[in-house]
Amino acid sequence: QEDIFKNVILHAKEYGYIFPSSEIYDGLSAVYDYAQNGVELKRNIREYWWKSMVQMHENIVGIDASIFMHPTTWKASGHVDAFNDPLIDNKDSKKRYRADVLIEDYCEKLHQKALKEIEKAKKRFGEAFDEAQFIETNPCVVEYYAKKKEILERMARGLDSGDLADVKALIEELEIADPDTGSKNWTEVRQFNLMFGTKLGASTDTAMDLYLRPETAQGIFVNFLNVQKTGRMKIPFGIAQTGKAFRNEIVARQFIFRMREFEQMEMQFFVKPGEEMKYYEYWKDTRLKWHLSLGMGAENYRYHDHEKLAHYANAATDIEFNFPFGFKELEGIHSRMDFDLKAHEQFSGKKLQFFDNETNSSYVPYVVETSVGLDRMFLSIFSKSLQEETLEDGLTRTVLKLPAVLAPTKAAILPLVKKDGLPEIAQEIMEDLKWDFNVAYDEKDAVGRRYRRADALGTPFCITVDHQTLEDKTVTIRHRDTMKQDRVAIVDLRTLINEEVSI
Ligand code: GAP
Repeated sequence: QEDIFKNVILHAKEYGYIFPSSEIYDGLSAVYDYAQNGVELKRNIREYWWKSMVQMHENIVGIDASIFMHPTTWKASGHVDAFNDPLIDNKDSKKRYRADVLIEDYCEKLHQKALKEIEKAKKRFGEAFDEAQFIETNPCVVEYYAKKKEILERMARGLDSGDLADVKALIEELEIADPDTGSKNWTEVRQFNLMFGTKLGASTDTAMDLYLRPETAQGIFVNFLNVQKTGRMKIPFGIAQTGKAFRNEIVARQFIFRMREFEQMEMQFFVKPGEEMKYYEYWKDTRLKWHLSLGMGAENYRYHDHEKLAHYANAATDIEFNFPFGFKELEGIHSRMDFDLKAHEQFSGKKLQFFDNETNSSYVPYVVETSVGLDRMFLSIFSKSLQEETLEDGLTRTVLKLPAVLAPTKAAILPLVKKDGLPEIAQEIMEDLKWDFNVAYDEKDAVGRRYRRADALGTPFCITVDHQTLEDKTVTIRHRDTMKQDRVAIVDLRTLINEEVSI
């Protein structure tokens, strides 16, 4: 698995998807740049999300709020007081870790052990295997799951009550070691606020302390009434937004999975109090279906319902994805009640209520939120799409099987040889198609090598102009995933490509 992950990172660099930030200065930890192909893939994911959330829902509109917000926003939201990570240092290696992540990783190992038992039994019993019954009755599996539950509950109790000594005691009791060095010599656990601070204004006397937003959601809450009134929105309705967020993450070792500067795609859905569970279930289901529509395999997604809820939520789940380093959170769906709007009412002194014409009364709506990291979406799709295939002739090929709708370049246009007028025809096809799709022209190297390059870049189609084209105005179109080639008329290309790449 580690090799697969390394391969993903190398491929992302070699094929112009992601570069380390400021690489000539040896990079900046947990900060990355999207390269020429990465920026297109990221843009396409964002657009796919936006279309399904905003364009396809009459009652959802979008906004683009600023990264800087009035500092009181973050008092009201609870981020100033409670947006903390519990840190622990290893005295020998001098490395710093998140105490909760160390404990969660330990629990994930228990989970994997249980899964192994289940897999073994599945093989042994074949068709007759009753998985649910096995999970409930097999002593090993029961013990693994019970232990995991007990540990996570104890950690949550410690973090919630501020009893950080007990969190440290838990790490010691479980004999958790520094993942890099194996040392078990830990410091105390302490809280660390994740927000980046900055200053607005030139003069030191009057400059105002600001934060870079750690989530996009608050830009939606503070604009709730503006949008509702000017858009004449009726409850239930949603406000969607995509944009950068910043967190001073401590454990940031997983490529673009956990970054200090990242992008979120969030939607806050405002509902009548009492109806929140209905919409929570609706969005849970709808968001998983959205992920599944990308064809990365249903077995790679799972829900993780939160048993222990944050003080502002009455229901919460994560949609987890099977990343190269195991199942981890991809998206969060939370029923946040009226926590945020009420807090902003209190801190701003302004009413943030919806006037219901039918009942002639006002109320503070409840909120169901869906929040997905764009960079994590990118990593989920990129890592699952990257495949090594052994072909019939025994050779291997590297192919990036990106969903065609998201691929940065939809077609590569290749003259078979660099003479006889073939390049000119290929250029003409490109000039024509580029109005509708991102297409690339490539005449360098033998055509077989160019096919392999297009495969590795994730380009769904290769269009080859050969000598027959001169006679009958047809070309071959090669499909990336099957490697099958069809002979088609040039005039039909647009329709053929469009069928595959449109949403
Ligand atoms: N408004 C709710 C909220 O921000 P969150 O669970 O803290 O909830 C939502 O974040 C999503 O943002 C996560 O599911 C994840 O996909 C993404 N995310 C959070 N921190 C991230 C980081 N440091 N790097 C990349 N993505 C991150």
